Amino acid sequence: MEPIIQVRDLTKVYQSKERSGLLSSRVKNVDALKGITLDIFPGEVFGLLGPNGAGKTTLIKCLTTLLLPTRGAAWINGYQLERDENAIRASIGCMLMGDRGLYWKLTGRENLDFFGALYQIPPAPRKKQADKIIEMLNLGDIVDRTVETYSSGQKMKLAFGKALINDAPVLILDEPTNTLDLPSARELRTVVHDLNEQGRTVVYTTHQMSEAEELCDRGASIDRGEVIALGTIPELKASLNREGVTKVEGVIPATAFRAVRALDGVASAALSSKDGAQELVIVAPNPRAILPQLIHALMDNGAVLEQISPTEVTLEDVFIAKTGRTLAEDTRVK
Ligand SMILES: Nc1ncnc2c1ncn2[C@@H]1O[C@H](COP(=O)(O)OP(=O)(O)O)[C@@H](O)[C@H]1O
Ligand SMILES: [Mg+2]
Repeated sequence: MEPIIQVRDLTKVYQSKERSGLLSSRVKNVDALKGITLDIFPGEVFGLLGPNGAGKTTLIKCLTTLLLPTRGAAWINGYQLERDENAIRASIGCMLMGDRGLYWKLTGRENLDFFGALYQIPPAPRKKQADKIIEMLNLGDIVDRTVETYSSGQKMKLAFGKALINDAPVLILDEPTNTLDLPSARELRTVVHDLNEQGRTVVYTTHQMSEAEELCDRGASIDRGEVIALGTIPELKASLNREGVTKVEGVIPATAFRAVRALDGVASAALSSKDGAQELVIVAPNPRAILPQLIHALMDNGAVLEQISPTEVTLEDVFIAKTGRTLAEDTRVK
C-alpha cells in the first residue's frame, strides 16, 4: 500500500535571538527536528508520541504548511510540500493551538462558516457540513452563542469541529484532549475513532501514552527531534519483551534514585512525582534478580517504600527504557 503521508529527512532549525548583554544579542539555533523520516498509511490512526519539547508541534506545523522546513521533503495525499500548498491544505483537517484558533466574538456556527469559506467551500455544502459537525459533536445547545461564553472544554470541541469543516481525508490533531476533563476527552477519542472507521487517516499527537495505546494503530516515539521508536503499538511494547518493569511508590529522595540507577542489572530508571508521592520506574533484564539490591539501595538512601510491584510493559516504559526520562519531563530548549 502506498503511504498517504511520506516524510523524508525533515529537519527544522529555529533561529531565535538571545540577549547576550545589555545591548548585544546573538542568534541561537534550536534543532527542533533532526531528520524525521516516516510513512503513514491510509486508514490508520498514527500516534506522534513524545514529551513537551520533542518537536511534535513543529513537525505538524511543517506538514500543514504553516512552517517551512529547513531541509527534507514530505508528501501528503500525493502532493509535495512546498510545491502543492493549496492541494495539501485541502487534503488536511487540522487542529493546532487548541482553542486559540477560534474567533471568540463570533458564534460557534459563524466560526464554522468562516473557516469553511476560507477553504472556498460554496455556502450550501458549507452549511450542510457545519450541520453535520454540530450534530456529531452535540454542539446544538451552544453553537449560536459567541465563543467567549464557552467553557474551555466547549471551545476545544468547537476547535475540533473546525478541523472537520473541509471534510478532508487526513485529520491532524495536535494534543486535542490536552485541556479536556476525562469524560470530554473520552468523548473526543470516540469521535476520532468513528471518523477513522469511516475511512479517515488520523495523525494524533499526545504526550499521554495511555491515550496512544487506546486509540492508535501505529506510532512514532519522538525525543529531542528524533524518531527513537516506530511501529505498531504491540511492536513498540514488544521491543521491551525481554526486559521487565518494576514500579516503586513512596517517598524517594534523589540520592536513592541515583543509587538505583547505578545498580548493576538496571537498564534504565526514571523518577516522577504524582500527588506528592514519587513513582520510580525501573527497567531491568531480570527484575527478580535485582530485587534485594534494589530494596537495599532505596532503604540505605532514606527512601520510604509504600509499594513495589512488577508491572505490564506500557508504552511509557518503552520511552523510559530508551531515554531514561519520563514523558512528563519538559525537554524544551530554552
Ligand atoms: N518559534 C520557535 N523559536 C525557537 N524555538 C522554538 C520555537 N518553537 C519551538 N521551539 C523549540 O523547538 C523544540 C520543539 O518544540 P515543539 O515542536 O513545540 O515540541 P512539542 O510540540 O513536542 O512540545 C523545543 O525545544 C522548543 O523550545
Ligand atoms: Mg506541542
